[in-house]
Amino acid sequence: MCGIVGYTGPREAGPILLDGLARLEYRGYDSAGIALVTPEGELFVEKRAGKLANLRTALADRTPAAGVGLAHTRWATHGRPNDLNAHPHVDCSGRITVIHNGIIENFRELRDGLEERGHRLRSETDTEAIAHLVEEEYRGDIADAVRRALRRVEGAYAIAVLHRDEPDRLVGARLNVPLIVGIGDGENFLASDVAAILAHTDRVIYLEEGDVADLRPGGVALSAIDGTLRVRPVHTIDWSVEAAEKGGYPHFMLKEMHEQPDAIRTAFTGRLRGEAIVVEELTPVADRLGAVERIEFLACGSANYAAQVAAILAQSWLGLPARSTVASEFRYGPPPLDARTLVIAVSQSGETADTLAATRLARERGCPIVAVTNTVGSAITREADAVLFQQAGPEIAVVATKTFVSQVTLLTVLMAALAKGRGRLLPEMERRLVGALRALPEQAHRALELAAPAQDLARRYVNSRGFMFVGRGLGYPVALEGALKLKEVSYVHAEGYAAGELKHGPISLLDAEVPLVAVATRSSVYEKLISNVMEGRARDARVIAVASEGDVSIARHADDVLRVPDTIEELTPVLAVIPLQLFAYHTAVARGTDVDQPRNLAKSVTVE
Ligand code: G6P
Repeated sequence: MCGIVGYTGPREAGPILLDGLARLEYRGYDSAGIALVTPEGELFVEKRAGKLANLRTALADRTPAAGVGLAHTRWATHGRPNDLNAHPHVDCSGRITVIHNGIIENFRELRDGLEERGHRLRSETDTEAIAHLVEEEYRGDIADAVRRALRRVEGAYAIAVLHRDEPDRLVGARLNVPLIVGIGDGENFLASDVAAILAHTDRVIYLEEGDVADLRPGGVALSAIDGTLRVRPVHTIDWSVEAAEKGGYPHFMLKEMHEQPDAIRTAFTGRLRGEAIVVEELTPVADRLGAVERIEFLACGSANYAAQVAAILAQSWLGLPARSTVASEFRYGPPPLDARTLVIAVSQSGETADTLAATRLARERGCPIVAVTNTVGSAITREADAVLFQQAGPEIAVVATKTFVSQVTLLTVLMAALAKGRGRLLPEMERRLVGALRALPEQAHRALELAAPAQDLARRYVNSRGFMFVGRGLGYPVALEGALKLKEVSYVHAEGYAAGELKHGPISLLDAEVPLVAVATRSSVYEKLISNVMEGRARDARVIAVASEGDVSIARHADDVLRVPDTIEELTPVLAVIPLQLFAYHTAVARGTDVDQPRNLAKSVTVE
């Protein structure tokens, strides 16, 4: 979604803000803008449609010297992505400027009222209404004005506000959209996330719902919208700046795929003791787990496919009904929800609006809630009774790779821990699982050696009309994720299907120009899957198979085979997805798309 960064302090604000924006571009990138207040009290605003480079060109060497400013990168929700709708937005007086991430739900009503009272709104955005509301409420104190204006606003927001007559002051506020304060020495920052300011400080405050932050170079005051003072802890971030940079790879996606062995390891680190699985994070819900009769996973996108793997394991290991529902649909046909339904919310960012809304519904109905997320301090952590952090480090590429394998690994550990708590994990199975988990990082490393053959395949198949990905059992969510990766980054049409369903419809799409990609790792449904592959081959489809090392016979059924190391069936999704990610990546490179920031996508979608 949009990215926000703000600065107040003795240094030049312009370069700090532009560098911050560069690190936030993954959140959305259809326009960018900056506002600076000069020491003479002039408000300078520049904004441009398109990527940050357009803004940099427009600024060229005319960025004024300023010690306070704010900047924004936008992913449009209201109004087309053009210069006018780009943030910052300014009030009628030209003294107040606002940037915003989120959606103001009552903005039509607010705009109508503002226009009736004589305000001239220039853009189509909901954000501009905030600038004019602050203008109406301004009586010499910008933080007061922001607090009063926000009492009239409904919706979700992270905002940053400046008034040119208070030239060292920067005000931020959040409700249901992330915003952090960075604490420096004699300088302070606002940002959508840590990546934007890590080059300057590692000390941050995660603002919470309804917090208003009043920043000056020498200090930060926090309050609620009603003006009561608030205190929040300061966290020290141990991510290095380098961890958020490409580190020699041409794209973040490739770099992050290569971080998968580490991401897998950190997902189980601290949760395995010798040959035992011990998930201490479950303690806050421990006394409620005995009453659980079913499990609902809530997630979107790749996280939903990770959750589908976990739902299959939950049914098999816990013997309870379990399923994953896309969070954007969950509220419109919810299952029975009460203390007997364990809800597991899975979200890399922890800020996905659909996942949050579905989780809140479950919470209101009394379900125990466990969150699995990669983002400390994110909104989902406040909705949950227990939280398991993925600890995968920042993922900058828009598409999920390392955070997907991390989720699958962590959810597998979580399912085993829940099964163990119910006395259903046989000691022999626990030992086997722990052994297989410990071997997994090295095996993932070997799976990454498939980069060269995956690149060769991508080049040979680059002109295909489309792709059909199929799998069965645990291979089915892997097929879905493989197809999603390919369409996200290469813009080639790809469908993921349950292999047995091919014959019920999509087989009509297959011909010599639409290859079949089969997830054919060793499993209890291998033979049945091969029958489905043969059905496709009989329709002239070329077959690319992901198989297990040592499977020789697969060569009879496939034109091309990518073999991943063998593991226990429950962990095959972690390894089987790696060649599919590599294939998607190299197809995107061959087609010349924007791999790290594919068109129309955002890393974290904070609107429903
Ligand atoms: C966006 C991203 C996807 C991601 C999904 C869920 O659509 O582009 O890659 O899977 O959001 O994100 P979350 O942060 O909730 O896991």
